[in-house]
Amino acid sequence: MNFSDTPRDPTVPRHVAVVMDGNGRWARKRYMPRVYGHKQGVDALVRAVNAFADRGVDYLTVFAFSSENWKRPSEEVSGLMGLVLVAVSKYLTKLAGDGVRVRIVGDRSKVSNKLREAWEYAERSTAHNTRINLSVAFNYGGRWDMVQACRHAMLDGVHPEALDEAALSRYMALSFAPDPDLFIRTGGEMRISNFLLWQSAYSEFVFTERLWPDFDETDIDAAIQAYRQRDRRYGGIPTEELVPQGI
Ligand code: IPE
Ligand code: IPE
Ligand code: MG
Repeated sequence: MNFSDTPRDPTVPRHVAVVMDGNGRWARKRYMPRVYGHKQGVDALVRAVNAFADRGVDYLTVFAFSSENWKRPSEEVSGLMGLVLVAVSKYLTKLAGDGVRVRIVGDRSKVSNKLREAWEYAERSTAHNTRINLSVAFNYGGRWDMVQACRHAMLDGVHPEALDEAALSRYMALSFAPDPDLFIRTGGEMRISNFLLWQSAYSEFVFTERLWPDFDETDIDAAIQAYRQRDRRYGGIPTEELVPQGI
C-alpha cells in the first residue's frame, strides 16, 4: 500500500516515539502475572500502529525492552523474549497486509539466534511497505545508541574534524527517520528511562497516567491535540513575536 501521494497535515506529528509503560501494573491490578500484561501490551501496540497510521503519522518508534530491563526476574525476561516470537507469528501477516514496515532497533548481539532470525524475517517481509514505519526498540538504550554510533564512525575512519552532529546522526540507530516530533510515555512516570536521548532533543513530551494495555484512540487523539497546542521554538522566540518577512 502506498499512501505517500496524499498531502500530509502539518499539524500531525510525522514521527511519534512511545515508551509503552505500565504493562506490569495493568496485570497486577487484575491479580495476573506481569507477562500477561505484556501480552495485552502487544495487542495494544498492533491497534496503536493502525490508529497512528490512520492519523497520518509516518514513523512510530516504540520502546519494548530497554538495555536495563535485563535486571528483571529471569521469568519475566524469558516471557518477554517468548512473546516476541509469538507476536511475530501472530501479527506479522496482518501488519504486512496493513502496509506497515517493521524494523527492530537495538543491540542484537545479546539476543538468541531464534529471535534475531524472527526479526530479520519481519524486516525482510515488510521492507516494501510505505504506509507507516514501525520501529521496535528492543535491547535499546539511548546511551548504547550514542556509543555504537561513535564506534561505527571510528571504524569507518571518520576524521575527528569531520565528526559533526549531522555526521554522527548517520550512524544512530534511527538514521532513516526524522527526529521524533512527539514523545509519549504511558504509565504515569515522568522520565525518559534511557530511550531516544539524542533524537528527542526537541521532541514535545506528553505523559499520561493511562497504562499501556489501555492506551486507545482517545488517548492518541488527546496526545496529538496536546502536540498541536505547543509552540516549537527550537531555541528561537515565540512564534507570535516573529515579524513576518518583508515588513
Ligand atoms: C513496560 O511495562 C514494558 C517493559 C518494560 C517491557 P512495565 O513492565 O515496565 O510495567 P510497569 O511499569 O511495571 O507497570
Ligand atoms: C522503560 O520502562 C522501558 C520500556 C517501556 C521498554 P521501565 O519500566 O523499564 O522504566 P523505569 O524502570 O520505570 O524507569
Ligand atoms: Mg515500567
